[in-house]
Amino acid sequence: MASVPSLASSLHQRLAEALSAALPEAGTADPLLRRSDRADFQANGMLALAKKLKGNPRELAAKVVEGLPAGDLIKDVEVSGPGFLNITITDEAIVRTLAARAADDRLGVPFAEAPGTTVIDYAQPNVAKEMHVGHLRNSVIGDAVVRILEFSGEKVVRRHHIGDWGTQFGMLIQFLIEHPHELDHEGEVSGEEAMSSLNRLYKASRTLFDSDEEFKARARRRVVDLQAGDEETLALWQRFVDESKIYFYSVFDKLDVEIRDEDIVGESGYNDMLAETCRLLEESGVAVRSNGALCVFFDDVKGPDGNPSPLIVQKSDGGFGYAATDLSAIRDRVGNLKADTLLYVVDARQSLHFKMVFETARRAGWLTDDVKAVQLGFGTVLGKDGKPFKTREGETVRLVDLLDEAIDRATAVVREKAQDLTEEQIAERGAQVGIGAVKYADLSTSVSRDYKFDLDQMVSLNGDTSVYLQYAYARIQSILRKAGEARPAAHPELALAPAERALGMHLDQFGELLAEVTASYEPHKLAGYLYQLASLYTTFYAECPVLKAETPEQVENRLFLCDLTARTLRQGMTLLGIRTPEQL
Ligand code: ARG
Repeated sequence: MASVPSLASSLHQRLAEALSAALPEAGTADPLLRRSDRADFQANGMLALAKKLKGNPRELAAKVVEGLPAGDLIKDVEVSGPGFLNITITDEAIVRTLAARAADDRLGVPFAEAPGTTVIDYAQPNVAKEMHVGHLRNSVIGDAVVRILEFSGEKVVRRHHIGDWGTQFGMLIQFLIEHPHELDHEGEVSGEEAMSSLNRLYKASRTLFDSDEEFKARARRRVVDLQAGDEETLALWQRFVDESKIYFYSVFDKLDVEIRDEDIVGESGYNDMLAETCRLLEESGVAVRSNGALCVFFDDVKGPDGNPSPLIVQKSDGGFGYAATDLSAIRDRVGNLKADTLLYVVDARQSLHFKMVFETARRAGWLTDDVKAVQLGFGTVLGKDGKPFKTREGETVRLVDLLDEAIDRATAVVREKAQDLTEEQIAERGAQVGIGAVKYADLSTSVSRDYKFDLDQMVSLNGDTSVYLQYAYARIQSILRKAGEARPAAHPELALAPAERALGMHLDQFGELLAEVTASYEPHKLAGYLYQLASLYTTFYAECPVLKAETPEQVENRLFLCDLTARTLRQGMTLLGIRTPEQL
């Protein structure tokens, strides 16, 4: 495993050296290197620097050019305009750098310099409730961020903060006590079956709760038993959790997101800490009693009536809320799990909650300056009409229905194009393409933005879709299979066609792009990079014959570019959680 410096960073370093030699009083100065259309790169740093030191930028630029070492990196450099440098890299340097990337399992991408420990809270559905389209985003974005961080060398602890606690369980458990066989099954239960019995039970108990005062009273007492840790009550609660997990796992499986049991630490997991969390907050004065409730106030958070709108940690009836759990989770994640970064992949509509929770934890000293807490607040999934996505009947869309439809559509696309695939392969690829399409549409939009859920667009073969990327990948694999005796091999001595250079330069930027994506938690930038890679490949493929190139060396060199493109696509898509079938 060897990390490979990019052409941009090698060039940057040489320019910086030449610049400080030309202008020692500037110290270490930034040549401000950018990609450029006119040459490969443009350096603008001489302008501001000369101005600051009252010199002539063109003269300074010329001096920098003189000071650049002769070598095999730079083909051409010229002073242009008021004092820019236009720089062209040699073809040889491009191919040599790419060859070094190809020789490395990680494509030359370095590990982060100072990896830390991130605890990430994502994929957090609610027990005894259907997963809806909102849970698509918290799962898909979270999964991608986990993969991206782990690839950078970060230690990642996953936490699925499922909604498995609260007053509704009193009602459910009481109903189950009075109707003991409602959750019984014969043999193995499918996810759908589990959910439909939970749904049935939920509706029946709700109806009773709303119509029968005595049942309501029994249900309320059951909440108290649950919170007091009564054994029979807990055992029944566990049945709801287990039944729900059967369902969750079936959905995550369809979504191709791997969830491990030990990472599911729901709201109930912090139950033992809640009283202490409240006590510490009250003793330190961070929280105060207000009308019996334990509250934290913020100068800048007011309700619509202009009155302060506090974070309520404990209600006046003694019940602990969502905030108490999240504050306890912070204590656990920083204190026990030793996180230096806390990430929350949660709907942007919960931003005020997290702002108040983080601020409270800072005041209490549970979040110190060296710990970063970030909510990746995601936008809403909209229907084609631009309003929050609903079924025709106005109900929230079940995640499973949506995934099934995507798989159906994608299977039709795969079947139409399939040449020699069996039915079984068509079904498998259809699922990989359909789920990939849904994930890609989600991940190619920046996290905080809303987007329209449009299956027609998502499974389109043209345009910014995962299908387009998957076909590019599969097409390369098919060329590599057809190459017969010819193997991919780099030939730095060959001159490159413009489309080869453009592709090569983009391939070389993968590591830098990933560093940026990792630091900013922005998977959409990776999606954008991959789309551009596939587009550059398409141009290359149209302009440069591969297997019918002029010389055997050129065939090998082009196969080499094909192969590195495929490996980069696969690595990038894997980081987004999207499959790359070898054949489509
Ligand atoms: N269960 C919640 C929901 O479905 C999300 C939980 C978010 N995580 C947290 N630590 N509050 O909206």
